[in-house]
Amino acid sequence: MLEAKEVTKRFGGLVALNKVSLEIREHELLGLIGPNGSGKTTLFNVITGYYKPEGGKIYYKGEDITGLRPHVIVKMGIARTFQIPKPFGRLTVLENVMSAAMYGRKAASRSEAETIAMEWLEYVGLDKKANVEARTLNVVERKLMELARALSTGPDLLLLDELVAGLNPSEMMDTVKLVRRLVDEKGLTIIMVEHVMKAVMSISDRVFVLHRGEKLAEGKPEEIAKDPKVIEAYLGEPIKV
Ligand SMILES: Nc1ncnc2c1ncn2[C@@H]1O[C@H](COP(=O)(O)OP(=O)(O)OP(=O)(O)O)[C@@H](O)[C@H]1O
Ligand SMILES: [Mg+2]
Repeated sequence: MLEAKEVTKRFGGLVALNKVSLEIREHELLGLIGPNGSGKTTLFNVITGYYKPEGGKIYYKGEDITGLRPHVIVKMGIARTFQIPKPFGRLTVLENVMSAAMYGRKAASRSEAETIAMEWLEYVGLDKKANVEARTLNVVERKLMELARALSTGPDLLLLDELVAGLNPSEMMDTVKLVRRLVDEKGLTIIMVEHVMKAVMSISDRVFVLHRGEKLAEGKPEEIAKDPKVIEAYLGEPIKV
């Protein structure tokens, strides 16, 4: 589905990504983890065309998409959520989500967009808030709206940047189950960046670890959870999966 090949991204003298290669198969849920500043969000920004890499290539369904602009990439079927949600505060939740459907893959008409948006709002459990202003939402509701917005663009590949950060344990478990269902029921392919190990380890098919802009390890959750390199650089101690 996606292949990043030796991707390098620099910010002045800082090498945020150093020849990172990552692949994801169709219908796979890949957990992307690593310490603060290890390059996770930057990798999303490069994949979705926010930043052009200084080196390397991104292939999506076999096509070279390196350096294409975000509005082109979304129409090819890649959507993402943002680590810090930025809703249009004075628009309603429904309008926020409709805007994604209108500028997404399908360029839906207003009435089509409303149907698509309502379907996803129901799926994420936010339909009762459809007509309130987005600025009135609490943390978990903002996250769910952000998710509904990404889904309404009609993606095959979804990149989630710290979707469950800031949620309480029960909200978190509900949300990770929802993410897993997007793969199992809706056939999506997902890369999920997350610091909450319980969340990422419980639903990922595979985990990829970044450290200082480089790949540190890659494997099944249970392998990563006891990998000495990963424990030293990030986890601190082995974790139960
Ligand atoms: N636009 C930018 N300009 C300059 N430096 C940047 C920019 N974006 C990211 N960086 C730097 O690149 C490095 C990687 O940042 P990135 O946001 O990708 O990390 P992250 O793994 O997502 O971290 P976190 O877990 O804290 O979200 C950091 O050192 C960061 O300060
Ligand atoms: Mg980040």
